[in-house]
Amino acid sequence: MKDRLIIFDTTMRDGEQSPGAAMTKAEKVRIAKALERLKVDVIEAGFPIASPGDFEAVQAVARAVRDVTVCGLARTGDADIDRAFEALKDAPSYRIHTFIATSPIHMQKKLKMAPDEVLEAAIRAVKRARNYTDNVEFSCEDSSRSEFDFLSRILEAVIDAGATTVNLPDTVGYGVPDQYGAFIGRLIENVPNSDKAVFSVHCHNDLGLAVGNSLAAVMHGARQVECTINGLGERAGNASLEEIVMAVRTRKDYFPCETRIETTEIMNCSRLVSTITGFPVQPNKAIVGANAFAHESGIHQDGVLKHRETYEIMRAQDVGLNSNRIVLGKLSGRNAFRTRLKELGTEFASEADLNDVFKRFKDLADRKSEIYDEDLQALVSDTDVSVSNERIKLVSLRCRTETGETPVADLMLAIDGEERSASATGDGPVDAAYKAVEQVMASGANLQLYSVNAITTGTDSQGEVTVRLERAGRIVNGQGADTDIIVASVKAYLNALNKILFPVHREHPQVAGV
Ligand code: KIV
Ligand code: ZN
Repeated sequence: MKDRLIIFDTTMRDGEQSPGAAMTKAEKVRIAKALERLKVDVIEAGFPIASPGDFEAVQAVARAVRDVTVCGLARTGDADIDRAFEALKDAPSYRIHTFIATSPIHMQKKLKMAPDEVLEAAIRAVKRARNYTDNVEFSCEDSSRSEFDFLSRILEAVIDAGATTVNLPDTVGYGVPDQYGAFIGRLIENVPNSDKAVFSVHCHNDLGLAVGNSLAAVMHGARQVECTINGLGERAGNASLEEIVMAVRTRKDYFPCETRIETTEIMNCSRLVSTITGFPVQPNKAIVGANAFAHESGIHQDGVLKHRETYEIMRAQDVGLNSNRIVLGKLSGRNAFRTRLKELGTEFASEADLNDVFKRFKDLADRKSEIYDEDLQALVSDTDVSVSNERIKLVSLRCRTETGETPVADLMLAIDGEERSASATGDGPVDAAYKAVEQVMASGANLQLYSVNAITTGTDSQGEVTVRLERAGRIVNGQGADTDIIVASVKAYLNALNKILFPVHREHPQVAGV
């Protein structure tokens, strides 16, 4: 019997800390359901004290899932821990995750606390969390730059206080595999009560080593890995869940443990997270990139055709990659539509919600004869956006382009229900449409990224547009999908403008505080 490697997904907490990746409550519930089907062991759904919206999102996830433990992050202060409990308490199984920084630089410069004060805060927090649940995780932030003896002391103390998982984050992505793996192994050996807790790792990817470091730690006894779908996360991201899982599975001859992940759900989760956050997956990304299973060179194609394993160590089907399947069309009824979306993880709270999305589906099917899973996912995302607090809405758009003529866009927006129109010319139709939006909104935001992706293959595919806007140092992403890419572009721009012009205040867990 191999040991179980616990997969702790933090896409909705650490992943959400990427600039522009904030998720709504409805989006978090969709992702949580997809993660439940993926069979992750723990979902870290957010940081409940960060804002009322974060609290509600964690609570909604706690109420929406059955077969997975839901976790909420808390600093060591009483208010954080109580708030996490309040958000989580309706989940069938929940965990409170509390943390404090333990490296000299963080303790001195950020927390302005002496090591003994940090130790005391950690013990107190774990004890408080234990009053609410017997599933408590404690993390030593910046552990890879912390002093070994102090770490050993604090780990022993929090395990004594009741922590059932102790996590050693490589917060700044400083570790290298041999050294980080050995460091975890030495801690497990050195902490007298280490057998009373699961040792966990949480690696950031600043040097591109997050997966390597996590796997090295697994070889030295770590039995929980914290990771994210598509490697989303602060700065260069976190260890990518799909890479960890497929490495352990593909090299079962090497790793002493196994996960319970349903790998055929990987692609679905990857697409969902990409669509919701607007962070595209690079084509050559391991496991989930568009080229991960594509064989371009003649020699490779020939080899794969003769015998798949000449060049393939995993099967595309094992990660859930089916070549685009037509799932629905113009004549599909509500039942088929509801059933397919349920299979993809979306259930409707009411008949009215179903009717609303079904109407959009029919509109799309009128314009596009073949509807794929990816189209349905984009449709639901678009609906989430349109039912959330969108104060600026697109009412109508007309673009004129002709060879040799300057493109013109005429557009009407509704701002809090009040209609306003504008007309502008530009270098191309998208440029003209964006100028018309700016004539109305005068946001002054800087467009940092504009990218178009075909959701499926074929010229009838919906275009999915992602934009990134910056304003006064704040960065947000916006997405929009439509068969008309100019409309998709305007939807994406408005989605980002809604976020940047009407921000919600949130605390960042790692900026300050105890
Ligand atoms: O990277 C980190 O240290 C974290 C902790 C809050 C667990 O995300
Ligand atoms: Zn982190």
